[in-house]
Amino acid sequence: MRLLSTLLPATCALALVVDPTAGHSIDSVALSSIRRPSVFARVSSFSWLRKQSPILISLPDAAQDSDFASWLSLQSVRSFEGILANIGQDGANVAGQNVNPGVVVASPSRDHPNYFYHWVRDGAITMRALVDEYENSGNASVKELIDAYVDNVRSTQWTSNPSGQFGRGGLGEPKFEVDGKPFVGTWGRPQRDGPALRAITLISYARTLQRRGAPMDSLRYLYELIKPDLEYASKFWASPGFDLWEEQQGLHFFTAMVQFKALLLGQEIASDFSDEGAARWYHIQANGLKQFLLSFWDEERGYLIETLASPRSGLDAALLLGAIHGGSETVFPIHSDMIITTLQALVTDMRARYPINEQDSYDSNRFPTAVGIGRYPEDVYSGGDLGNSELGNPWFLCTATVAHTLYGLVEHLALSNSALIISNLTADFYLPFISPTPGMEPHYCDFSATAIWSRSAAILRFMPGSRETEQVISNIFHYADGFLKIVKKHADAEGNMSEQFDRQTGFMRGARQLTWSSESVLGAIKMRERAVEAIEKRRAYFQRF
Ligand code: NOJ
Ligand code: NOJ
Repeated sequence: MRLLSTLLPATCALALVVDPTAGHSIDSVALSSIRRPSVFARVSSFSWLRKQSPILISLPDAAQDSDFASWLSLQSVRSFEGILANIGQDGANVAGQNVNPGVVVASPSRDHPNYFYHWVRDGAITMRALVDEYENSGNASVKELIDAYVDNVRSTQWTSNPSGQFGRGGLGEPKFEVDGKPFVGTWGRPQRDGPALRAITLISYARTLQRRGAPMDSLRYLYELIKPDLEYASKFWASPGFDLWEEQQGLHFFTAMVQFKALLLGQEIASDFSDEGAARWYHIQANGLKQFLLSFWDEERGYLIETLASPRSGLDAALLLGAIHGGSETVFPIHSDMIITTLQALVTDMRARYPINEQDSYDSNRFPTAVGIGRYPEDVYSGGDLGNSELGNPWFLCTATVAHTLYGLVEHLALSNSALIISNLTADFYLPFISPTPGMEPHYCDFSATAIWSRSAAILRFMPGSRETEQVISNIFHYADGFLKIVKKHADAEGNMSEQFDRQTGFMRGARQLTWSSESVLGAIKMRERAVEAIEKRRAYFQRF
């Protein structure tokens, strides 16, 4: 509540300082974030706006920052090329190196560290980006790569490995040799997010083909690959495994989120293939997961934690990745209060953690600044072969993930015709984006015109078109850009990105040309495009008055 009292004049501050836990049981917070989304298309409820004089959102003028604008368009092309370069068998970085068709190599780096493997997670996340590309462009060579991946999934699923065999735990194996053989070295296994991510990718591919006219029956071959992964997610979500960073055994938010999403989509597709028994089973398990996911909210710390019963702080970029890859409209969408407050806690930690982040926390306009983001506060993996003996660094993919989340929030807010609701939980995040009205009398409540103070729910409510709401939308957009500008600063001129950038010097380190770095930056840029579109729609709407 610190910020509420500094931003508000004394009289208002008194009214707003309340028990920070009041009205914020998990259910009420989750509900308030669920009820908020509404579609801009239903414009009739905007009619009251006629009475207001809305402040137009200022979109960043491309001309003002042409450097950044041209980097964005170049980098999205380069990121896409960066992905293709690491896919077998002909990708520029992997050709002639015995990489099977459709295999996604995590990085061409073969030592310090050796990432020349096919990780199930990295592969599924990357192929999801190609499916989106195919959905939009219909590009036949992209389709060829996805089809090669599909064939590869079939043989991977049946490859016996140290986690087990097909149907007996084998799907939990995290990585394979690039020629399809099992990886037999010691590793953090099993990792239970892989099958879920793969199911999500394959289901979205099936849906894309369907939208492009393929009869459902012709897609049964995909369902035959999807089903074993859904069975795995549905049967093992309550069993501990290693986290996505391959370090901690336990139960993890990211893993549970993607399992939830897989089962949610799985229930629909099972039913489309008249597999009703399976559809019911996935439905029941998804409901179980939905309840289970609430246990990751830590009321005392005031943010979500990544791993249950872990000695760590629990803050982790994986929480945001969970919302991006696993969120749904009703369960931790990226714009939900719990995700946003968690993002705020993570950024606050990272701001103080790495020497390269040392700077004023607020820019000359007194808005918060972006910083480089690492995996989690306690991270000591520096990206080489030294194991866990150094200090962690910021990662490209984690920094891009914060940008992605913020653009997702902007899109949501810009498309919403309901009030912006700032709760006790999110006040520290939102209020710095509202600039105090200059020349305001100290006893006059700044927000009186637009804010409705509800004591019981401890929330501020700002109407669409109010100065505060529109400022929040445009300032968060600029804030998100800040994170991509950090990516820009540390990537090389060709758009290559390694895994990490050095906490002291900012130079790239860790596995070079990491596929996942490219995917995450591409994903953030795409989400930015959606945010811009939403802002433009909102602006066009307001201009009618
Ligand atoms: C490699 C893993 O992939 C990485 O996530 C981990 O931090 C290091 N090994 C150190 O255990
Ligand atoms: C280490 C990361 O921690 C893990 O998440 C990733 O799958 C592998 N590197 C490969 O990129």
